[in-house]
Amino acid sequence: MSTITNICCIGAGYVGGPTMAVIAQKCPHIKVNVVDVNPERIAAWNDVNLENLPIYEPGLAEMVGESRGRNLFFSTQIEQAINNAQIIFISVNTPTKTYGKGKGMAADLKFVELCARQIASTSSENKIVVEKSTLPVRTAQAIKNILDNTGTGVKYQVLSNPEFLAEGTAIQDLLEPDRVLIGGEENPEGKNAIEALASIYANWVPREKILQTNVWSSELSKLTANAFLAQRVSSINSISALCEKTGANIDEVAKAIGMDKRIGDKFLKASVGFGGSCFQKDILNLVYICRSLNLQHVADYWEQVKTINDYQKQRFADNIIQTLYNTVSGKKIALLGWAFKKDTNDTRETPAMYVAKELIDDQAEIHVYDPKVTKQQIINDLEYLGVDTQKNLHIHSSPYTASEKAHAVAILTEWDEFKSLKWEQIYSEMLKPAFIFDGRSILDMQKIKQIGFKVYCIGKEPMF
Ligand code: UDX
Ligand code: ADP
Repeated sequence: MSTITNICCIGAGYVGGPTMAVIAQKCPHIKVNVVDVNPERIAAWNDVNLENLPIYEPGLAEMVGESRGRNLFFSTQIEQAINNAQIIFISVNTPTKTYGKGKGMAADLKFVELCARQIASTSSENKIVVEKSTLPVRTAQAIKNILDNTGTGVKYQVLSNPEFLAEGTAIQDLLEPDRVLIGGEENPEGKNAIEALASIYANWVPREKILQTNVWSSELSKLTANAFLAQRVSSINSISALCEKTGANIDEVAKAIGMDKRIGDKFLKASVGFGGSCFQKDILNLVYICRSLNLQHVADYWEQVKTINDYQKQRFADNIIQTLYNTVSGKKIALLGWAFKKDTNDTRETPAMYVAKELIDDQAEIHVYDPKVTKQQIINDLEYLGVDTQKNLHIHSSPYTASEKAHAVAILTEWDEFKSLKWEQIYSEMLKPAFIFDGRSILDMQKIKQIGFKVYCIGKEPMF
């Protein structure tokens, strides 16, 4: 394989966009084309005002600003980009199937398959195809089967190169990854392809952090990493329920266990539940694969991670209803935060939408404030859950108007700005008794209580 000077990425989303922006910045000698079927998304990536990029991610706008038009290009010209590229990254969405066999469990690979077919019908020279989206084990083989049966004589190497970035810290994660994982065929052609991709990352990642494995180990490692991380969140969340009943404090417990080096202190923050595009999807995917292979005990084990997460969201909403005298009908409840975590505008599987649905189902009036999520996105999320958004939903551009005359405030995303809100002012403008439900455990309970609030913090005994 000659030196890599031209790559393309199909899919300009939360993974493709930031990943390619970092490659473009670190490799000015490589022309990076990011293509997508969605013209509005591409127009947003090309917007002269960098604040209008389609995704919010700290440090991303600066990075795009530096390379865009130099060696980083966003377009809808998919075929042209494929043709010119030596390496093609597939970075399209792989949601959970909503129909047919595997509905609600398996990953929907239709977008990936469409990409493979488009690459097959477009390419006139040998290519390296890299799967970047999280995919079930053995998807690379399926992609290869499609590519190898075109009869054009073009040769393909398919690599698995899963992305481990977390939203909100994507740029940092890409600049200093814990590791880069590349899976490929165990033959000379496969090794050459792996080396071609590794040589791109080697522009800024130390060689010892670039792991080379077989394709299936790479695919399974990604699913397993996400399953382990989600499992930690569900583990601490399960203990949070116990803390609330016993007077133990989940933050103290997390600190105490996290100081044990064998356990470690990361991913032990109790919350209203995990969200995001990956955890639930990947757990379901893992469970589905295990069931398909008749590994029922393994499937049951991992399924519990999702069950506890659903329980956590549900019990948070139930607790609000119960505390507000068993009904929130006609009551104003302010929801602070909608994104699935801070520092992103992504709302996929956000716990906020499930909590909001429960409350609206009990006829509450919901008033939402999030610093980065658009009004339309909040409406889309609730409509996706079948909620009528015409009546009981109000979106605010200030946390103060959202909470004015509210019966209760619920914190659903841990945005830093919520820690330093003028809580005295919020208290004075709320109905009394004024309740706070802190689903992210970010507030100092004692201080909030002293202001006059009745306060519930996830994983701590309530102060009502
Ligand atoms: C995750 C993985 O971390 C990343 O490696 C993978 O590439 C994609 O999936 P992401 O979903 O972007 O990344 O965010 P992450 O930081 O993992 O958080 C996921 C969810 O878990 C969020 O809703 C977050 O609020 C929640 N969480 C995380 C907790 O509730 N407590 C924690 O201690 C950590
Ligand atoms: P992720 O978080 O995995 O990056 P996103 O949904 O943010 O997922 O981004 C995936 C992108 O892939 C979307 O912008 C979507 O329009 C794009 N996409 C899906 N299928 C195709 C396709 N066949 N060709 C080009 N782009 C596609």
